[in-house]
Amino acid sequence: MLLLATLPVSAELDLTRLEEYANQPRPAYITRDNTTAGNPITNLGATLGRVMFYDKRLSRNETVSCASCHRQERAFSDTATASVGVAGTTGRHSMRLINSRFANERRFFWDERAATLEAQTTQPVRDHTEMGFSGTLGDPGFADLVTRLTAVEEYKVLFTAVYGDPAITETRIQRALAQFVRSIQSFDSKYDVGRSQVGDGQPFPNFTASENNGKALFLNPPGAGGAGCAGCHAPPEFDIDPNSGNNGVVGVIGGGTDFTVTRSPTLRDLVGPGGQSNGGMMHTAQFATLAQVIAHYNAIPAVVQGIDPRLTRPGPGGPQPQRLNLTTNQQNDIAAFLRTLTGSSVYTAAKWSSPFDPSGALGLIVLPSEGVRMTPHSDPGGPMMRVSMTAVPNVTYVFQSSVNLSDWDETPVTAAANGTVEVLVPVDPAEGQAYYRFAYLAGGL
Ligand code: HEC
Ligand code: HEC
Repeated sequence: MLLLATLPVSAELDLTRLEEYANQPRPAYITRDNTTAGNPITNLGATLGRVMFYDKRLSRNETVSCASCHRQERAFSDTATASVGVAGTTGRHSMRLINSRFANERRFFWDERAATLEAQTTQPVRDHTEMGFSGTLGDPGFADLVTRLTAVEEYKVLFTAVYGDPAITETRIQRALAQFVRSIQSFDSKYDVGRSQVGDGQPFPNFTASENNGKALFLNPPGAGGAGCAGCHAPPEFDIDPNSGNNGVVGVIGGGTDFTVTRSPTLRDLVGPGGQSNGGMMHTAQFATLAQVIAHYNAIPAVVQGIDPRLTRPGPGGPQPQRLNLTTNQQNDIAAFLRTLTGSSVYTAAKWSSPFDPSGALGLIVLPSEGVRMTPHSDPGGPMMRVSMTAVPNVTYVFQSSVNLSDWDETPVTAAANGTVEVLVPVDPAEGQAYYRFAYLAGGL
């Protein structure tokens, strides 16, 4: 649905007043950034990404969107062990999409099989089980999705606004989805309050003794009496060391072994702001609580193929699994520290929420509520009037003028890249009063 003015509908996306995605504030101590060269976040690009992230039309039978498995109120993960796609359930647990951008690791998925976030974003679309545009097993192919989206008026406007013309390609879809995912950030945790005052090596003034002790255990290597977590999940981003091996969790949902998992999302927002679950932890979701995670690292079950050597210790006859011998209090302290890494605004902020109403309708506002500006303009040929508005970049509007409010002359006019639409009209004193307005006509004149 395209709205020409601000109307009281339940879901509307005002393209003349975008949410801020490009220049969100972040703490000065956050420096890791995996943004792909040439695809910085823009407000329009991330807005298009947001619409597609929540659009069920990106799945074969229009029942599943990215957000079905990546739910905002669960830090963009899922409480189900395996998430439900269009043809069955996923082989691994859904990953939280918090602070995906702020990491040294540039590859994505538990096994790092996607070389970039851009490459990652259309893999679920092309997956037979997840969204079903696989082109195999009787599924439609990606070209069928492009045909479907090309017929949608809202996407004509959105792709034109972002890319200058309405063509829909896989690359354009990937770039916009990646911008939206990279925009999802969470830096309002208790940890951030402390970290903004002192460095990680010092006790945080806002922490309890238990949280500070947990922080020290998290930071210090096992040889120095710590648990060594920061060796692979380094603060302040808590992203994964790109060179990590697997961590000894090598099961498969439903049975089997998988030695390939060497990536973890950031350890921020492992649990929700009220302590509630954001879903089980690890690629198998096999640990429901932080205590279970810490117990795993305290006594790694076995030296398996591909395990990171940092989780082993030398022993007679070869490497032995790590034994941290942490006391119960120490384990509780690490859990208390991990809970300080949870933020709050990311769970509810409108800019990351669904732009669709519950019936699946989306309203795009393409005309600004402020209306048009008129400024006199002097020209060697005589007096002129500049009629302008700030609307949606690259979109073509219809400029209408009339002297009697019943007959209207119409001319197409395209908004500049900064959204300004402007027309210069001669002022003819003989004609008396003239009236001007801009309209949007689906399909143009
Ligand atoms: C049916 C459920 C499902 C759907 C639909 C889905 N995902 Fe996922 N997503 C997952 C699972 C499961 C994983 C982990 C899979 C793996 O690593 O093998 C994942 C992983 C990811 C990752 C990797 C995160 C990281 O830190 O490496 C990103 C990014 C992501 N999904 C974005 C999306 C986007 C964008 C869409 C929509 C185009 C989408 N997902 C649709 C379930 C889903
Ligand atoms: C040698 C590197 C390494 C060390 C050291 C390490 N981890 Fe991990 N961690 C990983 C890898 C790899 C994964 C992903 C494993 C999987 O899903 O199978 C992971 C996953 C996790 C997860 C699950 C994240 C999620 O999104 O489900 C938590 C929680 C975690 N680690 C906490 C810790 C804590 C606490 C410590 C210290 C006691 C620690 N890690 C030490 C490599 C490491």
